[in-house]
Amino acid sequence: MAFQTRSFSFRPEKGSTTAVLLGTGHKGELARHLGAIAPGRWFCISSRPVLKAVGRDWLLSSPGSVLDGDPILVPDGERAKTWTVLGKVLLELKKRGLKRDGGIVAVGGGTVGDLAGLAASLSLRGVPVVQVPTTVLAASDSALGGKTAVDLGEAKNLAGTFHHPSLVFVETSFFSSLPERDYRSGLAEIVKSALLDEAFWRRFPRLAPCLAVRDQVGLSEAIFRSLKMKARVVASDPRETKGLRFSLNLGHTLGHALEGASDFELRHGEAVAWGLLAALELSVTRAGLDSNTASEAARLLWTLVRPVRPPKASLEGWPALLALDKKGDSAGVRAVLLSRPGSVRLERLGLSDWRQALEAVLSRYNQR
Ligand SMILES: NC(=O)c1ccc[n+]([C@@H]2O[C@H](COP(=O)([O-])OP(=O)(O)OC[C@H]3O[C@@H](n4cnc5c(N)ncnc54)[C@H](O)[C@@H]3O)[C@@H](O)[C@H]2O)c1
Ligand SMILES: [Zn+2]
Repeated sequence: MAFQTRSFSFRPEKGSTTAVLLGTGHKGELARHLGAIAPGRWFCISSRPVLKAVGRDWLLSSPGSVLDGDPILVPDGERAKTWTVLGKVLLELKKRGLKRDGGIVAVGGGTVGDLAGLAASLSLRGVPVVQVPTTVLAASDSALGGKTAVDLGEAKNLAGTFHHPSLVFVETSFFSSLPERDYRSGLAEIVKSALLDEAFWRRFPRLAPCLAVRDQVGLSEAIFRSLKMKARVVASDPRETKGLRFSLNLGHTLGHALEGASDFELRHGEAVAWGLLAALELSVTRAGLDSNTASEAARLLWTLVRPVRPPKASLEGWPALLALDKKGDSAGVRAVLLSRPGSVRLERLGLSDWRQALEAVLSRYNQR
């Protein structure tokens, strides 16, 4: 199968458009696209390890390029998402002379993307941002949708804005340097996306073997389908006010609690994988999901992600964090369950329901 560049665009909100461009070996084209979005100077935000992994030659200014060839470096990973780092970045952008006719390019995983998006939405009351995701998680999920954030102490993503990217520019060759654990963890979001889109789910058994061996063509298709699914959901509820975006939280209620309680020893995607396995279990009894579909989904998820077992701290601490979930009230936490691929249901569940489901999946996958 020959590789092709894929693209689509959509209007997340009145007055803003997000274009998605996905390809292999097209990274040198980025500056040209930036110039078409805004003619002024563009500044890149990234981290040292990310640039070491994906190289930086392609970012260097060429004659006539709108891109400043000297990226603004932030700490790696979640340590980038702080108020202090954000302040430094804003000052640096001012010092370098960012103007309203320029913009910001985020090159990195979800952490760089969230921080750079927030910097773009605050600088001069808003300049365009282009997301260049370098992790599978960012490419299939966080780069699109406009959520930007920093953490406030332990509280994740508590200060942020909605600021939709003008362009999500995916270069699939970047993913080949991802360590196996990070790569597989990103696949959890792809499985979630497939479960939320009936046509994608029907196609998924053919794609799964390609994803397992990092086949570029299969991975490109899966990322593209994930972004399309998310774009559809985001366009229906751009600022998460109508309750439609909640479907994207499939597997995340328990996932976030396990992730937080593990003190981030579990990768986000691994925690989501456990959350998805439990949600599938509950979906059969509480949302009428066909048990064959649930077993097949669990099998594919397990084979692709192979999440490490949640550490002791995680297994002890998740109930307290689950109670803090944004979708909860005194009667319990509302969970996104699947009634069939492509169709979700919001159900109020007590702590004991979650506990039972988690124990069931932990014992089932314990011996493997
Ligand atoms: N805005 C949203 O809608 C949204 C959605 C989901 C998650 N998120 C956020 O995304 C963040 C997680 O993103 P992530 O998983 O991409 O983590 P990350 O940005 O921390 O990246 C993970 C690690 O991978 C390294 N890395 C990045 N690209 C690489 C490459 N190509 N090769 C080798 N190493 C590479 C990084 O240096 C980093 O150490 C969290 O902060 C989460 O809150 C945001
Ligand atoms: Zn997620």
